Amino acid sequence: MQADSLPEALVELLAAARAVAVLTGSGVSAESGIPTFRDALTGHWARFDPYELATPQAFGRDPARVTEWYDQRRLACLQCRPNAGHAALTEIEGHVEGRGGRFLLVTQNVDGLHQRAGSRRIVELHGSLHDWRCSGCAASMTLADEPLSPYPPRCRACGQPVRPGVVWFGEMLPRDAFAAAESMVQQADLLLVVGTSGLVHPAAGLVDLAMDSGCACCQINLEPTPYTSCMRWCLQGAAGTILPSLVRKTWGDSSPA
Ligand code: OAD
Repeated sequence: MQADSLPEALVELLAAARAVAVLTGSGVSAESGIPTFRDALTGHWARFDPYELATPQAFGRDPARVTEWYDQRRLACLQCRPNAGHAALTEIEGHVEGRGGRFLLVTQNVDGLHQRAGSRRIVELHGSLHDWRCSGCAASMTLADEPLSPYPPRCRACGQPVRPGVVWFGEMLPRDAFAAAESMVQQADLLLVVGTSGLVHPAAGLVDLAMDSGCACCQINLEPTPYTSCMRWCLQGAAGTILPSLVRKTWGDSSPA
């Protein structure tokens, strides 16, 4: 998408908004080489059964298989680099905060690429591949760039299997992270919804909450989602192209303060 085809009203709002929230999904990391979940053929859930890998029951049944799958994802993420979409979100944070505004990046992603791109105001609704804890005593495990094999890794303190610090289906989201996200979208003037199918709740419900609170919402996604029809703006395309165009059109080539 060329910068000149971006809606003027969106650019004006982004330039002036007192509070900007962003909700990202795996689509923002796709251009870094990290699979999404539901894209046909390439998505994790197109190739694996989530109920065999992403539930507490799956971990209980086969902790070795589950921990190996997550550890392979963790190591793969370490080989990937943030893309231009991640960098653009870091710039937006800098510009908004540089003018005294409030910014919060709410991500469903567990890959850590937003942090590596320099985003600071961030909450991870679904945890992180880079935080592992004991399933027994909850002790944190120190990670290296090496595989955690033999699987499942065992807690040095109590010997129980160590699990990835991601939220599995059927588990509660981190309370503080979700509360911060709810509070922000209720106060935001603009919510950018980037690279998510909008199918997984309660994360997707943040869009409903934002809209009910009068926040203008803009979807940036490769394909339509259930929220497409109720968005103020829908920019269909790659996040790594659209987000940098949006930053250029809003702030030119000036770097954040
Ligand atoms: P999905 O795979 O459901 O959706 C990814 C969305 O990103 C799709 O709508 C794609 O069209 C879009 N997309 C792909 N590449 C893109 C690109 N380069 N630019 C912009 N959009 C692109 O993944 P999520 O919505 O993130 O939860 O899934 C939400 C949650 O479901 C995940 O956090 C995970 C999963 O089960 C847990 O693990 C708890």
